[in-house]
Amino acid sequence: MANDVPESRPFSEKLRVPEALTFDDVLLRPMESHIEPDEADVSTSVSTNVDLNIPVLSAAMDTVTESELAIAMARNGGIGVLHRNMDIDEMVVEIERVKRADELVIRRDDVVTAQPDQTVREVDEMMEREGVSGAPVVDGNDVVLGIISATDIRPYLEVGESDEVHMAMTDEVITAGKDVTARAALELMYDHKIERVPIVDDDNRLVGLVTMQGILQRREHENAVRDGSGSLRIGVAVGPFENDRAHAAADAGADILFIDCAHAHNRDVIDSAREISESVEADVVVGNIGTREAAEAVVGFADGVKVGIGPGSICTTRVVTGAGMPQITAVSEVADVANRHDVPVIADGGIRYSGDAIKAIAAGADAVMLGSYFAGTKEAPGRVITMNGKKYKQYRGMGSVGAMRSGGGDRYLKEEDDDEGFVPEGVEAATPYKGTLASELHQLVGGMKSGMGYVGAPTIPEFKQRSRFVRASSAGQTEGHPHDVMITDEAPNYSPQE
Ligand code: XMP
Repeated sequence: MANDVPESRPFSEKLRVPEALTFDDVLLRPMESHIEPDEADVSTSVSTNVDLNIPVLSAAMDTVTESELAIAMARNGGIGVLHRNMDIDEMVVEIERVKRADELVIRRDDVVTAQPDQTVREVDEMMEREGVSGAPVVDGNDVVLGIISATDIRPYLEVGESDEVHMAMTDEVITAGKDVTARAALELMYDHKIERVPIVDDDNRLVGLVTMQGILQRREHENAVRDGSGSLRIGVAVGPFENDRAHAAADAGADILFIDCAHAHNRDVIDSAREISESVEADVVVGNIGTREAAEAVVGFADGVKVGIGPGSICTTRVVTGAGMPQITAVSEVADVANRHDVPVIADGGIRYSGDAIKAIAAGADAVMLGSYFAGTKEAPGRVITMNGKKYKQYRGMGSVGAMRSGGGDRYLKEEDDDEGFVPEGVEAATPYKGTLASELHQLVGGMKSGMGYVGAPTIPEFKQRSRFVRASSAGQTEGHPHDVMITDEAPNYSPQE
């Protein structure tokens, strides 16, 4: 029984402690290689049913992941995990934003339409206002009668501004059913020299619209991570006991639910997580954990496990509670167990450089989650602030007083009624403003691929097996950073740690 007092043993025996290592303690041993870094395939599994094209997730933090950043993450091949410092209705809106972002078919409510008896001028003005260059013409029952576009109403076509739309529209409309694929829609557009295809039901009523512009935009993001219906994928954080939030997120289309707890190796948290996983279709990732025993307790039902007890840049868990696990050891212990059960492992927190990220994979992770690395990007929530002539964005721990005040206290299994009662496990900070997420990801993933090149492993699974660590002394660590020089130009992927 867990609560029984164990047999007494000499306290001094406790000091025969195993060593636990973190990123700076190890380096990848260079090995013979036949691959060029650019050729490295970084696709991976992040949970039982979700694969990514890059092994990267953005943290579920209120200064990191909302819909804008989640859209950018998925378009670039990773996945964003929406934070939970918002009410359930707001969460649903955020999930829907991501799901609709790259939709092939624009839904009926979002399609700009014209009525046959409107004047050409009215429709011209409406299209200008709405920023579209054409509109299906529908009657009162939404039946598609024609389509009107800017080319139909140009003056030289002898259509007067006060003529009615039905006189100017094209009435031989090419339509398609709602199961149309991007390829079929594009073929229709090429064959008939048109730029938009109304999507109709069996009674010819408008249910959506596919546009050439929309299809071309999707093609720009060829590395995007999409669900079965072509929408971008998204992960959503839910509290350990938030069944309602979990169901609402799954119903709204969340692909993965992340049980968001600072110490998931807790019997009540595990029971609740199991219950949630049995009642939703979405994958359920359980975290955070940091030991072999915790992994054993969850791999039976979890679709993925997330590792990290106190490594994060804004975390004070280790100093406040005295508990924690250096991250490389934590990842490897969990991966020992999870790999045997084919459960993907996510290394969460403490990653400052691309080298740290690929070391986490070598330690057994399938993907990495980052907060501080992305908090300074354009797509992260919050505005840019200027201090001493430099640009910054806010970045705060979800266990900081500010974030807990906004609703995240139960991540730390605490119930608090007033600010005085908070025992924070994180700080509030500012991080340099960095520009677009795409350029940050380019540096991060580019560095990881180079690491794979040094080890001679062309894929993530091969890299996990083939890579070896060497131990770095503190002199070795110093040697590994620029030294004995004054840096004159900042590198896009390196800033010295204080
Ligand atoms: P990085 O190092 O990428 O870490 O900024 C992000 C991860 O840190 C965790 N997190 C916290 N941990 N106190 C903690 O002990 C906090 O206030 C806190 N906020 C976030 C979280 O796992 C995140 O993904």
